[in-house]
Amino acid sequence: MKIVLIGYMGSGKSSVGRVLADRIGSDYLDLDLEIQLNQSKTIPQIFKDQGEIYFRKIEAQLLRRVLCASGDLVLSSGGGTPCYAGNMDYMLQDESVRTVYLKCSLEVLTDRLWPEREERPLIVHLENKDLLNDFIRKHLFERSGYYLQAEQVINCDDLTPEQVALR
Ligand code: S3P
Repeated sequence: MKIVLIGYMGSGKSSVGRVLADRIGSDYLDLDLEIQLNQSKTIPQIFKDQGEIYFRKIEAQLLRRVLCASGDLVLSSGGGTPCYAGNMDYMLQDESVRTVYLKCSLEVLTDRLWPEREERPLIVHLENKDLLNDFIRKHLFERSGYYLQAEQVINCDDLTPEQVALR
């Protein structure tokens, strides 16, 4: 089985993914890391040099490549992965894939992402926390339709990565 963790930036996909893979003894991959290795560049650099459309193309290609490989896997996707290039439909149609949405509130996401915005090209330009909060609110509104198609939704606000992995 392949478990794909989806959810907004800062929802804990990578921390939960590592714990979960360790618990169930499966391989673990982080799609953002795969993209960076494939392109030999950081994600901010890809956005800067080639732009978001190029990034989304590589993201979709590598998602398919990783999910086609045999063996059990826990995959942490990027925050936008389910929302582009038919990726969510692709995952839902594959019977070996189980999608899990790590759902966090706007408040938790804003608090977590404010100190980490430098690493994230979509939010790096936001100059204060109110602007970040407003951006996330609208972005979540747009993206939730994709996230909520997941086979399992976990409300993560008050849970540690270990507790989320158990669920
Ligand atoms: C993105 C989220 C990032 C990364 C890229 C775009 C998004 O991943 O894929 O910066 O569109 O939400 P994380 O969710 O791991 O931060």
